[in-house]
Amino acid sequence: MYIETGRLILRPWVDTDTEELFRHAQNPNVASPCGWPPHKDIDDSRNILNAILKSPENCAIELKTTGKPVGSIGLMTIATSHTAPLAENEGEIGYWLGEDYWGQGLMPEAVTAVLRYAFGELKLSRVWAGYFPGNNKSRRVQEKCGFAYMCTDNKKYIEQLNTEMQLNFTAIDSSKFRVSQL
Ligand SMILES: CC(C)(COP(=O)(O)OP(=O)(O)OC[C@H]1O[C@@H](n2cnc3c(N)ncnc32)[C@H](O)[C@@H]1OP(=O)(O)O)[C@@H](O)C(=O)NCCC(=O)NCCS
Repeated sequence: MYIETGRLILRPWVDTDTEELFRHAQNPNVASPCGWPPHKDIDDSRNILNAILKSPENCAIELKTTGKPVGSIGLMTIATSHTAPLAENEGEIGYWLGEDYWGQGLMPEAVTAVLRYAFGELKLSRVWAGYFPGNNKSRRVQEKCGFAYMCTDNKKYIEQLNTEMQLNFTAIDSSKFRVSQL
């Protein structure tokens, strides 16, 4: 994926992002709501960058004004690692943003751009997203982007924390994505 928006460039993660990745991902306020442990050190970030973030379904969210990555967004399908109950031709969005950058509407901007790509280019029929109960910030992002509540999994196994947690799922269908946004 390579997508440009007003303030952002969504592009593949690269080795030189490691330091910024660690800066943001060591923060428990970012890590915990995503269901992974905070990065322990720069080597931890380097390993995760190589093992997970460099996969084609993940993008760094780069701020145009600084050229630095401030977060991550991924579009998973049934063929890749996912948590939502996906059917064929459906996708799932996951995302996080460094805490310094919260509250500027950056993630709704990134999510809307990925939805436009998912429905316009990939022709997916539905895109899902999830959030842990209490994560109102993420719930709001999903609401603002047109996702509607679908279901709750009371015992979702979260591999990276090796525990079961409650997880809410929302989704948006291609027909609900405003034509003007395509
Ligand atoms: C969820 C997240 C991506 C939101 O991104 P964002 O670009 O800040 O989104 P918005 O600017 O649209 O803000 C969304 C909501 O967060 C809340 N919020 C914003 N800034 C905040 C801050 N500094 N502190 C607390 N809440 C804040 C507001 O309620 C806002 O909703 P509103 O627009 O109705 O007021 C970001 O908070 C984040 O990365 N959190 C940690 C990781 C995470 O939760 N990932 C998603 C896992 S499902």
